[in-house]
Amino acid sequence: MGRPITSVISIRGFDRKGILYVLEQSGKMEQRPHPRLLQGHVLGLMFVEVSTRTRLSFASAMMRLGGQVLDFGDPERSSFKKGEGLSDTIRVMAGYCDVIAIRHPWEGAARLAAEVSGLPVINAGDGANQHPTQTFLDLYTIQKTHGGIDGLTVGFLGDLRYSRTVQSLAGAMSHFDCRQCFISPESLRAPQHVLEELEERGVQHEQFSDLGEVLPQLDILYCTRIQEERFADRLEYEQVKSSYRVDRALLEHCGVKETLRIMHPLPRVDELSEDLDATPYAVYFQQARNGIPVRQALLAMVLGKL
Ligand code: NCD
Repeated sequence: MGRPITSVISIRGFDRKGILYVLEQSGKMEQRPHPRLLQGHVLGLMFVEVSTRTRLSFASAMMRLGGQVLDFGDPERSSFKKGEGLSDTIRVMAGYCDVIAIRHPWEGAARLAAEVSGLPVINAGDGANQHPTQTFLDLYTIQKTHGGIDGLTVGFLGDLRYSRTVQSLAGAMSHFDCRQCFISPESLRAPQHVLEELEERGVQHEQFSDLGEVLPQLDILYCTRIQEERFADRLEYEQVKSSYRVDRALLEHCGVKETLRIMHPLPRVDELSEDLDATPYAVYFQQARNGIPVRQALLAMVLGKL
């Protein structure tokens, strides 16, 4: 690594070498516990949007490295209710901790936090924009299931318009020799800027409406739920809701590679059948667990311990 990592705002801040470095450090974290590495450090959690996995795995990662966690808690019970602006809240929070993990519905909120706090900031999801720590755990999972990232065909299924996990992961995978297939209803296509980035980097990519058409070619199927909370128009959501679903019968009907692995950032709603959970294809719960070593590595890096 050249420049030390000080904040993790967007996956765009990482090239292939930087990504592989984070994954390598994550592997080391998993192999060897460091119960005192971050002793004396406090992680501030500021989740202004709902979260289960990301918030809890950040907390768990910090505690398992000997650090402590200060949780901002429910925004409804904070001074936001008195009209305090985000910048002021972040400035105040910065006085109470050493690193901040922030999730916020506004695109760019994490960058703002990094600018005003003067602390290392980790983006835990900003609107439909970026979710870089999820991307690292997704790539870490892929390395584990397929032994590497190059040479794979990945299918992104579902709400490609609003899924920050897809935007981040597609960008990261463009540094590797992968074929990217985007499968979605017409109105939920991946944003133009995502496709343009792939084009600029000469990444092989295609768009599909029918999952069955491409399923047999996939090494990874990355499913997403429809991001109901991001639709400005309720009617538009009603028109696409429940428009796709992956289940065992579909895999059997289409025929898939034995080595196909199904990923999902979770939570799932109705797009991924529970009848897949016990099959060797399903790796989504393992994927969620991988959030621990990856977030440990990222916390240690931004705090200058790696
Ligand atoms: C994702 C998110 O928040 O973008 N969840 C997560 O962090 N694991 C995906 C989603 O909410 O659908």
